[in-house]
Amino acid sequence: MMKKLYGVGTGPGDVEHLTLKAVRVINEADVIFAPNNKGKKMALDTVKPFILDKKVVFVDFPMGQVKGKDYSSAAKTIEEEILENGCGVFLTIGDPMVYSTFIYLMEEIEKIGVEVEIVPGITSFTAGAAVCKTALTEKGDRFLLCDEMVDEDILKCCDSICVLKTSKNKEDILNILEKNKFSYSYIKRCTLPEELVLVDREEILADKDYMSFIIGRRLKND
Ligand SMILES: C[S@@+](CC[C@H](N)C(=O)[O-])C[C@H]1O[C@@H](n2cnc3c(N)ncnc32)[C@H](O)[C@@H]1O
Repeated sequence: MMKKLYGVGTGPGDVEHLTLKAVRVINEADVIFAPNNKGKKMALDTVKPFILDKKVVFVDFPMGQVKGKDYSSAAKTIEEEILENGCGVFLTIGDPMVYSTFIYLMEEIEKIGVEVEIVPGITSFTAGAAVCKTALTEKGDRFLLCDEMVDEDILKCCDSICVLKTSKNKEDILNILEKNKFSYSYIKRCTLPEELVLVDREEILADKDYMSFIIGRRLKND
């Protein structure tokens, strides 16, 4: 048997959004890994009731641009921590396959002979669509998911949009949405007790929380 690492999505934050499978693999793991970054505490907090006295290892990624060698050294640390024939869990907020560190790490982990399995999680933006009761896609719609910035040429072909990691370019994003006749909501700390939905432009611009995103829909012509 090989060593195994599960990439586990912990969902948007509310413990009730954890999947049964996530809870099972956390129960079965010898060691839990969490990235040392902005999402770290949230992922760990979500699964706290299930970690009990298990070993937790924080995996460091340097500030700024993370390089290939940072992922390979993180992969080595993880490989060393997993027991022979044992398994570990790497936590990611939302879903592991959506804008997550785990995507890059996974390639390095497989290269050094550790088996990888992904346990999907509820994404921030599907949870947010539920909170706002805003459809992401109706029949025939095209949906754009992006981070940090919006490509206006692509937006012109779309009916709905979610922009994650908005903290740097919020003003440009709102300008592009308004120009292209999209309504929008800003959702922070979705599914957590501090959850807040804002629709007022100035209030959105004033907020600085990294755990936030913008959801938009093309306004219907009457
Ligand atoms: C590195 S990405 C991770 C995305 C995640 N893997 C997912 O499936 O949603 C971090 C971004 O996810 C969004 N995010 C994650 N959880 C959130 C939450 N509970 N409320 C609002 N935004 C959230 C924010 O836009 C944040 O900047």
